[in-house]
Amino acid sequence: MSNSHPTELIQPLQQHNQQHLLDSWDELNPSEREALVTQIAAVDFAEIERLLAETGTASAAEQPEARARRATRPRNLVRLPNSPQEIAEHREAARQGEQLLADGKVGIILVAGGQGSRLGFDHPKGMFPIGPVSDNTLFQLLIEQAVARSRRARVTIPYYVMTSDATHEETVSFFEQHNDFGLDETAVRFFRQGNMPAVDAATGRLLLAAPGRLALSPDGHGGMLAALQQEQLFDDMRERGVEFLFYHQVDNSTAVVCDPVFLGLHAAHGSEMSIKVVAKRSAEERMGVVVDVDGKTQIIEYSDMPAEVAAMTDDAGDLLHWAGSTAIHVFNRELLERLAGGEHALPFHKAHKQVEFIDHDGQLQQPDKPNAYKFERFIFDALTQARKALVLEADRAAEFSPVKNAAGADSPETARRDMIALHAGWLRRAGATFPEGAAVEISPLFALDADELNDKIPAGTEFGREIHLHE
Ligand code: UD1
Repeated sequence: MSNSHPTELIQPLQQHNQQHLLDSWDELNPSEREALVTQIAAVDFAEIERLLAETGTASAAEQPEARARRATRPRNLVRLPNSPQEIAEHREAARQGEQLLADGKVGIILVAGGQGSRLGFDHPKGMFPIGPVSDNTLFQLLIEQAVARSRRARVTIPYYVMTSDATHEETVSFFEQHNDFGLDETAVRFFRQGNMPAVDAATGRLLLAAPGRLALSPDGHGGMLAALQQEQLFDDMRERGVEFLFYHQVDNSTAVVCDPVFLGLHAAHGSEMSIKVVAKRSAEERMGVVVDVDGKTQIIEYSDMPAEVAAMTDDAGDLLHWAGSTAIHVFNRELLERLAGGEHALPFHKAHKQVEFIDHDGQLQQPDKPNAYKFERFIFDALTQARKALVLEADRAAEFSPVKNAAGADSPETARRDMIALHAGWLRRAGATFPEGAAVEISPLFALDADELNDKIPAGTEFGREIHLHE
């Protein structure tokens, strides 16, 4: 490449007042120049201008805070089963879900593009060791569930893993090192989400992370739609006969992967997108809440929820907006395809954040207050476009214990404690005995649930203080 600026870049950059991106051009070597040109070419400057011009935090017509004030509890809700009839309905749903799995109609999406900065772990979050006895990683614990489900259903369940620039290489090589944790080698498909630039809040100019390098970050889990399309994975799903996608986040080690009850109820209700919720522990808990606004089920993210609305209670003193999103979904493939392009694209959410950048003199600036906007799409916004949406209540103790923070609530310590309590409960139900305070971990490959464990452990079996049941 010549030493002069690539002429096709200058004009559009000037037009959008972004010509500063080429300030250090003369000092860049050829490969740095090429990388910069690629980064710039991927930015839709007109879209950035549009997003900056919008006043709210989401690019929907109405500000989320205003929506939150009009929200009511979701109507199409299936509560935890209580009556014999509800229990029978769940059992029938489980049977239907098992059938969908056996028919090869279900695929799995795992989103693992986030950087886990709150956890303070310098690798993809899925590599965090969480097994209370085994130290197995989040990836391994979740994927072994998928392996066990595949074995039970006697099919290969396709496994789509979303990564980002920050997590891709390490994730792929971690899977390689572990032979995909036992997944069929035809099952795993990685796809990398896109990026969005950070923009200076005062001037609308894109920030540089280093001379000739844009400050980019992942475009949110909603970026999954464009990324699936770009990698032609919708075609892959269609070719394999996949009609339903079980979606989960890498940070919840007790998520019930491909829960047959959830799949069965989704199909039985003719839902296009279903979501699992658990009762929020407190008004302040950082969970999106599932609500209805104008008859449409949707999620209001915790950052968009005014504190006084989050704290509203009903006549019985219970939280009005109790339904915390576990971010576990079932989607119809067709809904995802419909939203992947053009007019139905998901909105961007705009967040005011602190972002390091290189100033005009090439000096690194570390702002002490929010200086920039970042843009993310949230996959849960697909709810409002689903022709029918179902909300299913889950038991937190059995299905939700995310690893978000290094210490305190939602930390590795609480996740291990919750897994021990869950598995110890299964073991007790199977009639086993073990000392109070024992560390218990049951590999999904040994038993996926209490019933399977019950079939495998003779009543009265005695264990010691450290129990790891695995293949
Ligand atoms: C998320 C949900 C919240 C929900 C909670 C349940 C969002 C915005 N909020 O909160 O409503 O109640 O989980 O635990 O999702 N990810 C990507 N790419 C990205 C961003 C995130 O793959 O660009 C993945 C992460 O790897 C992670 C998941 O999405 O698996 C959640 O992201 P995170 O930003 O940690 O969301 P939370 O604030 O925890």
